[in-house]
Amino acid sequence: MKFEYTLPEKAQLKGPNFIREVFERGAKIPGFISFGIGNPASEAIPVEAIQKAFDEVVHTNPIEILQYGPMMGDDRLREQTVERLVTVRHMPKEGQQLLLSIGAGQDLGLVPRTICNPGDEVYMDTYTFTSAIGAVKNMGAIPVAVEGDEAGMDPDALRRAIKRGGGKGRYIYLIPNFQNPTGVTMPLSRRKEIYAVAAEYGLFIYEDDPYGEICFTDEIVPTFKSFDEDNRVIYAGSYSKTLSAGLRVGYLYGPQEVIEAIQRIKNSSDGQMPLVTQRVVSHLLDHIDYDAQIQQVSRIYKEKADLMMQTFRTHGSSEVKFIEPTGGMFIWMTMPEQVDCDSFFELCMDHKVGIVKGAAFATDGRTTCQDFRLSFTFPSKEQIETGMKIVGQLSKECIK
Ligand SMILES: Cc1ncc(COP(=O)(O)O)c(C=O)c1O
Repeated sequence: MKFEYTLPEKAQLKGPNFIREVFERGAKIPGFISFGIGNPASEAIPVEAIQKAFDEVVHTNPIEILQYGPMMGDDRLREQTVERLVTVRHMPKEGQQLLLSIGAGQDLGLVPRTICNPGDEVYMDTYTFTSAIGAVKNMGAIPVAVEGDEAGMDPDALRRAIKRGGGKGRYIYLIPNFQNPTGVTMPLSRRKEIYAVAAEYGLFIYEDDPYGEICFTDEIVPTFKSFDEDNRVIYAGSYSKTLSAGLRVGYLYGPQEVIEAIQRIKNSSDGQMPLVTQRVVSHLLDHIDYDAQIQQVSRIYKEKADLMMQTFRTHGSSEVKFIEPTGGMFIWMTMPEQVDCDSFFELCMDHKVGIVKGAAFATDGRTTCQDFRLSFTFPSKEQIETGMKIVGQLSKECIK
């Protein structure tokens, strides 16, 4: 007899997946240019230094790294990471703990799984990182969309959402630097206002900051964690965008008890991180000029972001609005109301260019909007010029 089963709702594929759509359809089109891939630029990865690090790591004391490692992650890398967070990002040390994780991506699931009960509310930007929304839903908590503007989440809208929830709020999820997908960076004054609301209503803040140091200007806005007097901020960072995404090394830094609880939950699902990759990152931090590496990544990304904007300005309609990023990997493009964005997307696909519909990132699950996310990091400069010329010309055809 054939085994009949029904997977729970959360495990079933439902509704459109606009990011996968660009990827899958684009893969079948020769010469396709994708601004949909959220991968870091290949030329920004310090390949030779990583090869050397692997070599040295596997040849120095191999037996040690071929065993299980510590539950919280490699001691030396934890030390190096905390040292940097404290000295460079000015975060507190007292009362904090650091857990290494499989990228900052693993933390997206661990945080709600540990600190939420089913039915709790999580306040998020109207458009935010898809996996963060999914992780909240998977655990039976409720993602609540909070409106914002070009400075990020609006504190008054946040207050209203919390009041509507009637005490069910648990945490505020934010990507304060170079937000994915909008590219918005929240200024310090807005961060302080949001922090005050969190304090008023007894909420955690989950500060997801994988792009934090990929900054195109000299001015990195202080993190929430750096002024976290109440110890309510859980900070997530990553080596994916500064060294290599394939190494899969990220971390959570926050209140000791919370991080230790998160580690226990992690332990019950996947145990320790691979030691080899952690030691490789640790070796790199000891042997390369990490600040110079970050500057190099930022320079490459800024050049590509500028090129994307300039090419559109030369060829596209002035009625299309952009949020110009000051760092990170994404540009947010908003079409005027009269444009049918589903048709515009198809038109771009017909011309072999992939852009991601903004609705892919909608916290409230809406399936249409006037926005698109464009990623400028992975395509080559030639592809950016060719692709953006096409997107620009098509925008002029659509907006007459
Ligand atoms: C906002 C945000 N958080 C977390 C991640 C996960 O990054 P990683 O797991 O590579 O560190 C990403 C990756 O794209 C992201 O955009």
